[in-house]
Amino acid sequence: MTERTLAIIKPDAVERHLAGTIIQRIEGEGFQIRAMRRLHLSKTQAEGFYAVHRERPFFASLTEFMSSGPVIVLVLEAPDAIKKWRTLMGATDPAKADAGTMRKEFAQSIERNATHGSDAPDTAAYEMGYFFAGVELV
Ligand code: CMP
Repeated sequence: MTERTLAIIKPDAVERHLAGTIIQRIEGEGFQIRAMRRLHLSKTQAEGFYAVHRERPFFASLTEFMSSGPVIVLVLEAPDAIKKWRTLMGATDPAKADAGTMRKEFAQSIERNATHGSDAPDTAAYEMGYFFAGVELV
């Protein structure tokens, strides 16, 4: 079933000029890019995006990091896109990520882990709506 998911190229990867490589990989794996934007989140905007994690011990540090520099947000479309993108990203902790995954290749730590992907259809809907209006998905 064709599905959409939200991807973020995080500040650590943008800063190290890895965005082009990651986007090339996304297209090479067969995803359609339905929307894409580069933006610099405020701390409040990062807190809103990661609201589901607000009770976690890493929330303050995570939202500080996510607002530390520009990110690139994308809506990706493919059959089974949520799982497909999460598989391509690899485990959250790069030490546990499989060879060839984005995080194995590009992440510096469990926090500075290069990319984000929605983890389920309801979070994908929230996350896509957080950054894009329906008319921007083309
Ligand atoms: P992400 O997939 O964007 O979802 C939540 C983020 O919190 C995660 O990637 C990491 O960047 C960050 N994070 C920091 N510490 C942890 C941790 N111990 N467990 C999970 N996520 C963490």
